[in-house]
Amino acid sequence: MNISDTELQHFETHGFFFVPNPFGEEGMRKLDRISQDNEAEWEATDWPKGFNRLACQFLMLGEPILQFVEQPQFLEAGRKLLGCEEIHVGACGSGDASKVVSEDGRPVRQVHWHSDGGPDVHQVAFRTALDRHDSSNAPLRVLPGSHRRPREEVQCELMQLEIATGRHDTKPDQWSAEHPLEVSIILDPRWTLVWTPSCWHATGVKTAAGPRRAFGWNYFPKGGRKRDIEAVKHIFHGQWRAWTDERKFLWGIDE
Ligand SMILES: [Fe+2]
Repeated sequence: MNISDTELQHFETHGFFFVPNPFGEEGMRKLDRISQDNEAEWEATDWPKGFNRLACQFLMLGEPILQFVEQPQFLEAGRKLLGCEEIHVGACGSGDASKVVSEDGRPVRQVHWHSDGGPDVHQVAFRTALDRHDSSNAPLRVLPGSHRRPREEVQCELMQLEIATGRHDTKPDQWSAEHPLEVSIILDPRWTLVWTPSCWHATGVKTAAGPRRAFGWNYFPKGGRKRDIEAVKHIFHGQWRAWTDERKFLWGIDE
């Protein structure tokens, strides 16, 4: 995975680009199989408070996923895109975010517009679909370039578009209205999305039956987010202490 300077520029300007799936057919089959084998146990587990459930599902992919994330091709790409040598994984996830988010009782299965960061949060995420995210399967929608804009400005813009739908009596606190400049990403397992979740994003509505699984992780520069340390220690309980310093560092454990 060689990131060209024009791809780097596209990432910086628009917030995303694609690379051919780097896991290969065999790698994808393996992750698919492990993911299906783990699903019932993940679902039935009462995860400790504060843990991100999708991160737990990702980490349950075990040693194979650790080895993928630690591949030099990803680390080199992460370093180039973040413009620094010291990077770590500060967040990860696997499964279907639209399912987890919509458990709050919202009327449709959809993730509303939000940004997991802002102009001051540097991060790069690699996201790959295990199941194609078609237009009826809650595709990810991104607002290109919005990671460079003040949060309040984008928020106001999205709220105005939401009010313009004519669906509300009062100011809505969730917005899903279409933005004229958004890109709806039909993520096919043939491609991996490289993007920054500091870019505003939402999903379409899931109306299709069947799974909508994706997996991904985010690299951060020194001082960046370390959301999933406790989940890493919990799932690799009895193992992580024996990890190399390099591996501990990459997963955010610095002791
Ligand atoms: Fe998000």
